[in-house]
Amino acid sequence: MAKTPQPKMPKTKFWRFKIDVEKIGWLTIDTPKSPVNVLSSAALTELENLVSRFEDLIASDELIGVILLSDKDSGFIAGADISEFGEMMKTMPTSLERVHKLFARIERLKAPFVSGVHGFCLGGGLELILATHYRVAVNNDKTRIGFPEIKLGLFPGFGGTGRSLRQAGPVNAMSIMLSGKYLRAGAARGMNLVDKLVQNRDQLRWECRKAVIQKRKSKPAPFLKAVLAKAPLRGFVAKKMRQTVAKKANKNHYPAPYALIDLFEKHGDDWRAMIKGEPDGFSPLMRSDTSDNLRRLFFLSEGLKKQGLSGKDKPKFARVHVIGGGVMGGDIAAWCAFRGMAVTLQDLDLERIEPALKRAKKLFKKRLRKPQLISAAMSRIEADVEGKGIKRADVVIEAVVENLKIKQEIFKAAEKQMKPDAIMATNTSSIELEKIASVLKDKSRLIGLHFFNPVVQLPLVEIIQSKYNKEIDVKKGASFALAIGKSPVIVKSATGFLVNRVLMPYMLGAVNRVEAGESKELIDAAAVAFGMPMGPIELMDMVGLDVGKSVAEEVGFPVAENSKFAALVKAKKLGKKTGEGFYVWEKGKAQKGETPEHKDLVALGRELVKPLVDETEKCVKEKIVANADLADIGVIFGTGFAPFLGGPLKARKDGKA
Ligand code: NAI
Repeated sequence: MAKTPQPKMPKTKFWRFKIDVEKIGWLTIDTPKSPVNVLSSAALTELENLVSRFEDLIASDELIGVILLSDKDSGFIAGADISEFGEMMKTMPTSLERVHKLFARIERLKAPFVSGVHGFCLGGGLELILATHYRVAVNNDKTRIGFPEIKLGLFPGFGGTGRSLRQAGPVNAMSIMLSGKYLRAGAARGMNLVDKLVQNRDQLRWECRKAVIQKRKSKPAPFLKAVLAKAPLRGFVAKKMRQTVAKKANKNHYPAPYALIDLFEKHGDDWRAMIKGEPDGFSPLMRSDTSDNLRRLFFLSEGLKKQGLSGKDKPKFARVHVIGGGVMGGDIAAWCAFRGMAVTLQDLDLERIEPALKRAKKLFKKRLRKPQLISAAMSRIEADVEGKGIKRADVVIEAVVENLKIKQEIFKAAEKQMKPDAIMATNTSSIELEKIASVLKDKSRLIGLHFFNPVVQLPLVEIIQSKYNKEIDVKKGASFALAIGKSPVIVKSATGFLVNRVLMPYMLGAVNRVEAGESKELIDAAAVAFGMPMGPIELMDMVGLDVGKSVAEEVGFPVAENSKFAALVKAKKLGKKTGEGFYVWEKGKAQKGETPEHKDLVALGRELVKPLVDETEKCVKEKIVANADLADIGVIFGTGFAPFLGGPLKARKDGKA
């Protein structure tokens, strides 16, 4: 078959373009040397040149439409290139206006421009497809569509605010921009952000072709949805949004959602005006410390992903055996099964495993929703009282009671049965690894995989390295944490590791102040005003006073026997789980009294977190963690320490802690 003659096109590195026999132009994005596509400024400049050619080719009837696809298996476009934001800031607002112009030209093309999405289509990627005329997406588990900008202290700046509003109506559009949540293909279709769903990538090409030939054009949101953006309703909607946001984010810490609502309130009834207004709201956010710190955290957390083994050394984890089916072991097992691994769960008898299986089912129901997925996940987790799974497991995790002798016995027996290359890990929160390993033939095998409670919600796993471990053992541990979607931070085996060590002096310092007569409500309010997700007293109630007391003792801060704290533990007032601790708990909420007036809550909060920051500094000095960056991200992921401040050490460097 003769090849279709190709018109002269500009040279591109990020895009490929080919016209087929039907005069349809196939444009594919393929960012070189990167696992994902990003809209870098170089890619956008190339796109400008391409669009100029499209305009000419359409005018001369050589092109009847363009289809935009991604050549990467990983997905469509992950967003703008965050590493260029610093540079972009210097040329604000021109840099944004230039993209606005480019996207408006795409929108004005006289032939259909159709986008076909698979995998991730986020941020700038979503903004680009919203400027095209019709959008098709693969309806499978991998497709994710959304605006993550808010998590970086920003809002969409390539025209996504106005165009998402035009397509989805104000309530849906604002909710996805304000939450940063990713939608599955079906939900995106439901919101009119995409027009058509297909089952796979072959169908995607076919459907996009049909859309060009039939000159399909996406329709804006129906009147009943759009009407909420008209005055006077818009004012009410904006007010309601501010109230909802205020429950989650302090305006002084996280200004982006408020700036987005302001933009909506000003221009929400005119999507073009909203786009025009973007740079005014966006530029100060981009220059803010909050966004700078959140962007740094993004890169640090991406960096954590590189801590495992890669290439041909990358281990595969198919089977996990967990010993101890209590609070931690049960949830670790459920999480691993949720992430697709075959799990055997061992405890002294079946009755002790059953509650864990019930919790697992609850998790699968909530996260997987479809009955066949739930039952598949349930079939991956198996009660195993006799420990038959040890022999086959790629990873053995022990999470039995915090008792050296018991742990030693377990590992001594396990060592004889385990595959030689399987990971041998303990979830101990306080016992030195060297002590547990002392009974092993090969002491270098045992690492710590220290999960946090609740396992499902907390992203951090401290990978504990004993003095016997070789680097490869620890890296293997990090690979496993990554394989189950957690963030690994490598920490030396020393009392309290990183997180408990820095958390305890802060929490106990606060408890001591309450014992000395200060208001617990005031202490908690001050920590929150500083930027902590909850106050230290409420947190102690959440953790459980018994657990808190024993961890305190482990890390060298024994609780005085004549203290209120000790009395509460004795009286089995252990916090949220028993309905009373420092607070009385009703329906999962601490019942708080009046917060006394205070002239500077943030300053008081700063005073409260000082011990945490001091201790983090010590951890870096003592090489418990390799460097300050890892300490910052570890403490943020492990304690929730104010992300907008960039972590305890960054906050201190900036004079904020
Ligand atoms: P838990 O008391 O809820 O569960 C321990 C389980 O181990 C019980 O079900 C018990 O029957 C079982 N067990 C005891 N001896 C056993 C044996 N010989 N063979 C098999 N199973 C046995 O305890 P939790 O809270 O789950 O803690 C487990 C480990 O995780 C401890 O080392 C603890 O320090 C650590 N950890 C606890 C955290 C927490 O917040 N609870 C956080 C991080 C680590």
